[in-house]
Amino acid sequence: PTEIHRVRNLTRLQMGKHEMEPWYFSPYPESFQDVDLVYIDEFCLSYFDNNRAFERHRSKCTLVHPPGNEIYRDDHISFFEVDGRRQRTWCRNLCLLSKLFLDHKTLYYDVDPFLFYCMCTRDETGCHLTGYFSKEKDSAEGYNLACILTLPQYQRRGFGRLLIQFSYELSKREGKLGSPEKPLSDLGLLSYRQYWREILVELLLEPGRESISEFELATLTAMTEKDVHETLLVLNMLRYHKGNWIIVLPDAVIEQHNKRLEKERLKGVKKIDPARLQWKPPV
Ligand code: COA
Ligand code: NA
Repeated sequence: PTEIHRVRNLTRLQMGKHEMEPWYFSPYPESFQDVDLVYIDEFCLSYFDNNRAFERHRSKCTLVHPPGNEIYRDDHISFFEVDGRRQRTWCRNLCLLSKLFLDHKTLYYDVDPFLFYCMCTRDETGCHLTGYFSKEKDSAEGYNLACILTLPQYQRRGFGRLLIQFSYELSKREGKLGSPEKPLSDLGLLSYRQYWREILVELLLEPGRESISEFELATLTAMTEKDVHETLLVLNMLRYHKGNWIIVLPDAVIEQHNKRLEKERLKGVKKIDPARLQWKPPV
């Protein structure tokens, strides 16, 4: 079958203090492809093909954070939970924006079945979106994340890790195991592999974990047993011994882990503090 790859249609975007270059096609109005700079309102995510219309809008727009409940706040970031059905326009705008950085098909119009977990940094002008993930309200496959994006200007600073950790903290509250929707993009896979590896090794290094099982690792992390198993396999941490799998922690893995922690420390990478999550699973 022939796949139609539609070419990148926008040249440049301005959003808040940032300018960015789209990576892929996204179905913005056709007339937008001829303009040099597309203006995105960083709070309501509305889009404009000229500065005059954008400024006129800005003088009226009162939104200063994503239109949902703030369910997490620490010294650095906040998370807002936005319901696709209640905030259809905003969520469609978010999907349009994120398609610019996602190669494969994402939905833009049918946002009703999803919740959007939006991560922001705060200052005196408002809450600035750094990234988000979407999650099906009811996933038959047990997915705890549908789509994940860190806006390009914020990538490689640990925000993706925060989004992933947050998705697992929600699963822990639900008492469920979760996994991201497949297929993952290359960047998605890299980020998940890094997260899974770090979380599992960290747990295995805790005292008293010598004879822990894959099932227990899954329960403690809210990862599926399949994701636990595959991560341990990739890290060469499983040995088949007298009919049973046993988990081993090779020195090389520990060394790599300590290097990783040091790198994160130097970069000032933050973690989610589960105690600050003000959230109960929807009933
Ligand atoms: N190259 C190599 N490794 C990468 C990487 C890249 N471009 N991006 C992430 N990683 C790995 C690294 O190990 C990284 O740690 P490091 O920066 O210390 O080396 C780790 O993942 C965590 O990176 P982090 O800074 O937390 O991720 P991020 O904020 O850049 O966000 C994505 C990661 C996937 C959300 C981001 O790349 C993105 O939005 N991509 C476009 C959308 C997409 O593909 N989404 C997934 C499919 S739904
Ligand atoms: Na994906």
